[in-house]
Amino acid sequence: MSINRTTPLRVAVLASGRGSNLQAIIDVIDGGQIQAQIVVVISNKQDAVALERARKHGIKDLFVDPKPFIGRPDSREAYDGALLEVLQQQKVELVLLAGYMKIVTAVLVNAYANRMMNIHPSLLPSFPGLEVQKKAIDWGCKLAGCTVHFVTEGVDEGPIIIQAAVPILDDDTPETLAARILVQEHKIYPRAVQLFAEGRLKVEGRRVLIDAAKLDGEAIISAA
Ligand code: GAR
Repeated sequence: MSINRTTPLRVAVLASGRGSNLQAIIDVIDGGQIQAQIVVVISNKQDAVALERARKHGIKDLFVDPKPFIGRPDSREAYDGALLEVLQQQKVELVLLAGYMKIVTAVLVNAYANRMMNIHPSLLPSFPGLEVQKKAIDWGCKLAGCTVHFVTEGVDEGPIIIQAAVPILDDDTPETLAARILVQEHKIYPRAVQLFAEGRLKVEGRRVLIDAAKLDGEAIISAA
């Protein structure tokens, strides 16, 4: 059962880098496939390409400088408090971390429990953290992939919404593998947002149940 919203879902994206996942989500929203509106893109990096992408699409962009918060015992929480103010001002209903390379604290996690998603380029719970494509190759894995999950306080630990798998080839480098995974990221992140916007996600403990009335298996697990 899909739910038709009367107003578009108000979404914020937090990004630190090139913003290709942001772009994928913008494109799907622009294509009319998700009833959502990105109301603000926020970055902790002034030169993040993600901010440029936002400007290009007429989306409010905001650099929130972490420097003034450094040195305070509660620097991370205070920074998140500043973000939370913006999110609340903008009446944001869903927060998307898209290459946001800063750990989020309870301040944001609690305010947006089951309403904040992250994308990570591994098949969690394998390989949380950084340089995960290299770790998957070095471990000898035959499959790698990506995961969209709800954000909890544990890094890369929250309930899994969608995963996609890709093969690891004998001649893969971390870069070639990352590129293959990224293609899937650009499919599953917009899909997760669409499912959320349609009210099809239900969190039960660690499990995210998807109202699958119109869902095909391929959309959940796909190989390149
Ligand atoms: C993506 O591969 C995303 O999965 C990863 O950063 C990249 C951002 O790319 N995120 C993490 O590693 C978070 N733990 P993008 O800026 O082009 O979307």
